Amino acid sequence: MHTQLASITCLLVSAALFLPLAGAETALDRELSQAMALAPNIENGKDLYGKLCAECHGEDGWGSSGGEYPQLAGQHSSVIIKQLADIRAGNRDNPKMFPIVEQSQIGGAQAIADIAAYISTLLMDSFPAAGDGDNLAKAEALYIQSCSRCHGEQGEGDAGLHYPLIQGQHYEYLLRQLRWIRDGQRKNANPQMAALIRQLSDDDLKLLADYVSRIEPPADKLSDK
Ligand code: HEC
Ligand code: HEC
Repeated sequence: MHTQLASITCLLVSAALFLPLAGAETALDRELSQAMALAPNIENGKDLYGKLCAECHGEDGWGSSGGEYPQLAGQHSSVIIKQLADIRAGNRDNPKMFPIVEQSQIGGAQAIADIAAYISTLLMDSFPAAGDGDNLAKAEALYIQSCSRCHGEQGEGDAGLHYPLIQGQHYEYLLRQLRWIRDGQRKNANPQMAALIRQLSDDDLKLLADYVSRIEPPADKLSDK
């Protein structure tokens, strides 16, 4: 009874959160809101992840320290679902992944929900690649002033609002995303964030990427490897 109630509440909450995006009523929006609302099957997600995603993002979901592939481990499942939908819709330039997110490959809303839920359970890399470590005090001040209100003081993000967890992400990946957001190459970027980032110098972006890559996730999200 309790779990049933909880899942109904969860459904309602996801549906309510989704309303602002549902206006466009595209097939994509529908699939996305469906995926958000479905109860995931983590075992199936693990299977699909191994077949479709591990080749690039790694079995452990840690990505590559050179930053070509982001760490996915520990990310909120709502964020993974939104990013997959955005990649599918062509809102993010990701030619390597584009064919994999096609429906014929990845499947429908249930498969997306399953994979995203599995990824969110993966423990994170304890030693992500960082920058040069210069001027971290300035970096922290900049982060707290400009970024923490959405991404959280520890870069933990917000699952309900689809704000990504960014703590402990590889430096080079972060820096590339920040530059792409600044240059408008990441078309799904939050407009308020993009406006903020356009005001910053390239050196500031390096400081921010370095600082964020060094924020240690809480122990229960970290791998002991
Ligand atoms: C052929 C390589 C490849 C495969 C296979 C692949 N990806 Fe990716 N993925 C990438 C690359 C490259 C990026 C980074 C693109 C960029 O810089 O914006 C990425 C980015 C992502 C992102 C955005 C991360 C973020 O923090 O915003 C998500 C989510 C993601 N992949 C999930 C998946 C899932 C789930 C699968 C399996 C269904 C998968 N990927 C399979 C190459 C791949
Ligand atoms: C108004 C809220 C808001 C603010 C302020 C904000 N962000 Fe974001 N950020 C978002 C949202 C929402 C996304 C995900 C949407 C998207 O795909 O761009 C995002 C995405 C990102 C990503 C990509 C994550 C990934 O895994 O690919 C990075 C990196 C990032 N933000 C860093 C920053 C930094 C650094 C700052 C401060 C200069 C900042 N953000 C300020 C809301 C915000």
